[in-house]
Amino acid sequence: MGIPQPAFYIFKCQQSSPPGMPKPSCVRPDNQDLFQHLGQTLMQKGVIATVSPIQTGCLNRCNVGPVMLVEPGHVMYVGLTKEKISRIIDEHIIGGKIVDEYTIPAELWDAPVAPDVMMKQMGR
Ligand code: FES
Repeated sequence: MGIPQPAFYIFKCQQSSPPGMPKPSCVRPDNQDLFQHLGQTLMQKGVIATVSPIQTGCLNRCNVGPVMLVEPGHVMYVGLTKEKISRIIDEHIIGGKIVDEYTIPAELWDAPVAPDVMMKQMGR
């Protein structure tokens, strides 16, 4: 048997912007420890070997941040706090049930456009 692949990757937006920038960003002085909380909670639960937390840049949903994307499933969670992250780990990652009330509004997360379709739309 080979080395098992992770069951989940969790991409946490770690983008911060300098003070005074008009655009909001996911990491602010009051919430800098969310990624640490994510990793620590996965470790405490004993699932860090099969759930990989990944720090990523802007996921283009800055207005509803802090955000994180769970793969597989394309599940985007928004407005994160430590309490929400803990519940997502318990109910979605371990329990298998998406926490609908924390997911991004549907109008901000419409169906993806396949790359070949996009190329046609762009006339290429
Ligand atoms: S800064 Fe996090 S989605 Fe843009």
